[in-house]
Order: sequence, then structure tokens, then C-alpha cells
Amino acid sequence: MSDEKAVSIPKQAGSTLTEDSAGDGEVLLRVSGLKKHFPIRKGLLQRQTGAVRAVDGIDFEVRKGETLGVVGESGCGKSTMGRLITRLLEPTGGTVEFEGRDITHLGVGQMRPMRRDVQMIFQDPYSSLNPRHTIGTIVGAPFKLQGVQPEGGVKKEVQRLLSVVGLNPEHYNRYPHEFSGGQRQRIGIARALALNPKLVVADEPVSALDVSIQAQVVNLLDDLQEELGLTYVIIAHDLSVVRHVSDRIAVMYLGKIVELADRESLYTAPMHPYTKALMSAVPIPDPKRRGVKSERILLRGDVPSPIAPPSGCRFHTRCWKATEVCRTTEPPLLELKPGQRVACHHPENFQDQQPQDTVLLSVAKEAAELVADEVLAESAETSAAVAAVAAEVSEAAEAPVAEDASEAAAAEDDAEAPASEDVTDGDNK
Ligand SMILES: Nc1ncnc2c1ncn2[C@@H]1O[C@H](COP(=O)(O)OP(=O)(O)OP(=O)(O)O)[C@@H](O)[C@H]1O
Ligand code: SF4
Ligand SMILES: [Mg+2]
Repeated sequence: MSDEKAVSIPKQAGSTLTEDSAGDGEVLLRVSGLKKHFPIRKGLLQRQTGAVRAVDGIDFEVRKGETLGVVGESGCGKSTMGRLITRLLEPTGGTVEFEGRDITHLGVGQMRPMRRDVQMIFQDPYSSLNPRHTIGTIVGAPFKLQGVQPEGGVKKEVQRLLSVVGLNPEHYNRYPHEFSGGQRQRIGIARALALNPKLVVADEPVSALDVSIQAQVVNLLDDLQEELGLTYVIIAHDLSVVRHVSDRIAVMYLGKIVELADRESLYTAPMHPYTKALMSAVPIPDPKRRGVKSERILLRGDVPSPIAPPSGCRFHTRCWKATEVCRTTEPPLLELKPGQRVACHHPENFQDQQPQDTVLLSVAKEAAELVADEVLAESAETSAAVAAVAAEVSEAAEAPVAEDASEAAAAEDDAEAPASEDVTDGDNK
């Protein structure tokens, strides 16, 4: 791969991406209130009887030069989100802006010039390449589709792209079946890069590959980003793939973003219980494995259906911290710490947002049985510590009303204790 890196790769015209690669660079893509509801139709008349709320109101932005990782369990709407932002799907609601331009409802013709700038890499390198076409034809197809004549001709450009992604340019006339999974994914990457895109959305780019090959392909994406100043949205179902390459990570659950933070904050102090569960292990809903490993958080049951998502916080049917307010009121996605947005009434590593609501739901007690004692204890401890610090800060800030502030803080501490004890009790049963 390192040999190929010597191949010269022209930077994108007018790109200032290297300057913007820092955390809070210029926004390339902005998504607001984005929704995709797939209608469910029944009967002869095909009347709509309901809808799959695959993506149900999400807000985020992608900054120039960054990698945004998107993670979440199967069916939470990651691919739908990817297809919405690349406009392969028509949104049901909300807006998508690319470079400040509203592209939410652009028609096919209006989208054509945009197609050059936004490319997608798909999960399955077997089905995403036409078996009857040579890789030369496959990688060269975008030039044809866009009516672009590269300098030096299509063949030369395709061969250059093949070497950029670490393939032998002499294999131009071979067919997809002559390549391994990892090589096929490189072909997919070469095709996506053909037109010098600004944004590449990679939907589980390595999950169909052998674990030993996964790192190579991820590293290739990483190298290409640096050399070409690309911006990535990389979708994965767990954190293992995106943890090393993402600048920021969005965690999705049932069509919503529940936490969005820079990588460092997410790893050192995740705030959403679901993020914590994703980080602790791959969720295995098997009570027999309870206590196998102390840091584990196993999630109870399956992800609920996006046809009828749970009320309030959608995670409340599986969350070990869920209280009444979680069942009734949807928590908004709020920036609780600079660079860390979270949608939770009782976040981890942060002050409780609804400290008066202390009675755990019975489902929460059941869920807590699958959470390691250590995790529960740490959770109670960090929340109490954050509350104490917050109380000190507000005391200092509001010196004239210091009494009130400390009273409020004491009340908060009191309020928190029973909930935490309750959780631990549940686990000791
Ligand atoms: N074209 C469609 N028509 C109806 N429902 C759909 C369609 N595409 C996706 N869905 C549903 O929308 C939900 C979200 O699907 P999506 O493929 O976006 O999830 P995902 O997070 O990418 O999952 P996975 O990790 O399995 O790839 C699922 O319940 C899925 O069944
Ligand atoms: S504590 Fe409540 S709001 Fe937070 S994730 Fe659990 S159920 Fe949702
Ligand atoms: Mg998917």
C-alpha cells in the first residue's frame, strides 16, 4: 500500500480542506430534523396502514475534512440516513444542506452536478459490483455517467485510480470474481473517488470483510482522506471499526441520534446509557452470561420496532436508569458539555437533568440485572461527583444567594441517592 501512496493525487479544485481539518472547521453538510418514514401498505387498495420510522428527526453537521462515525444496532436507521444525505432517498421531512445549499428536494437533473461531490461506498463488495463488467468499466463508469473526459483518457485515469487504492493497474481487464473481498472493496473505493468527491459516505465499508482485511481497508480510507482532503461519514454497527478513524461519533438508536461527541469525550466520559452499553461490549441479550465479565452491560431484549417506537425516550424499555419522565417525555438532544450533545434525562458522567424523578420503572430494574455491579457503582459515583462539582460552581457563581444554591445541590444529591441504590439493589437480587 505504501508504494501506491507515492502516486500523485491531485487535490480537489479550490479545496481548503487541510486548513479546516481541525475539530470545528467549516460545515460541509448540515442536516436538520431529517426524517424518512417508509409507508406500510396493505390490501388490494394498498392503503397506508402505518409507517416504518427509519429516521425520525435527526440533526447533525459534517465539517470539512473530518470523519464522522455513525454507530448503532442493526435497524436503527444508519443506512437510511446515509441514503438520505447522499440523496439516493427522498426525505419525508427536514432538510439537507450541502455547502450551504438546500438539496433536500432537488430532482434528478438538478442533483446531477451534485452527484460528483457526494459519493457512497457500500457494505457488500460482492453485490455492489456488476459481475459482467470489467473493473476498468466499473471504475470508469462515473466518467461516462457525468460526461467527464479526464486528462489523458479514461483508461489512464482508471489505472491511476487503481494504483491509488493499492490495486495493480494491469488488472484493468479483469472481472470482479477474480478479486478477493478486500480487493473488491478497493474497487468500490476507486469508483467512489473517480470524480474527486468532497464527501464520501461509507456504509459499513468493511463489515463484509475478514477481520484481518478490515484494518487494511480502514487504513486505506484514512490515508486517502489525508492525501485528498476528503470528508467522510463512516457507518458501522459497533465502535470497533470507527473508533480509531473518527473525529466525532454519532450514536443512533431507533431512528434518533442519542449522543454526538468528539471521539475523546465519547470514550472518556460517555453520557448516554446506550453509548455506554455499546462501548462495554457487543450487546448479547442472554441472561446466562450475566456477570461473565464485570465491565459488561448487556441489553435486555431486542430493539423495539421502528413502526411503533416506545414513548418518551425510545431507549426506556431497555435502560437501567429509566424513570417515569423517560417513559413520558422525549429528552431533547442538548449540548451538555462543549462538543458533546446527548439526549437523556439521567445522563452518565453528568448532572442529572431530572433529579426530582427518582423512581425507577420496573423494566429498568430488570435491565439493571444485566449490568455489572461495577458499572452501576461507577455510574452512581460519577453522577454524584459531577453534581457536587456543579453545586460548587453554582455556589461560587451566585455568591449572594449561596445558601439557595447549596440547598438546591443538597436536594439534588438526596434525590440521586435512592435511584442509584435502587439500581444496585436490583442487581444484587
Ligand atoms: N425501503 C424500505 N422500505 C421499508 N422499510 C425499510 C426500507 N429500508 C429500510 N427499512 C426499515 O427501516 C429501518 C432502518 O433500516 P436501515 O437499513 O436504515 O438500518 P441500519 O441501521 O442500516 O441497519 P443494519 O445495521 O442492519 O444495516 C429498518 O426497520 C428497516 O427494516
Ligand atoms: S435514563 Fe431515561 S432518558 Fe436517559 S437513556 Fe435511560 S431511559 Fe432514556
Ligand atoms: Mg445498514
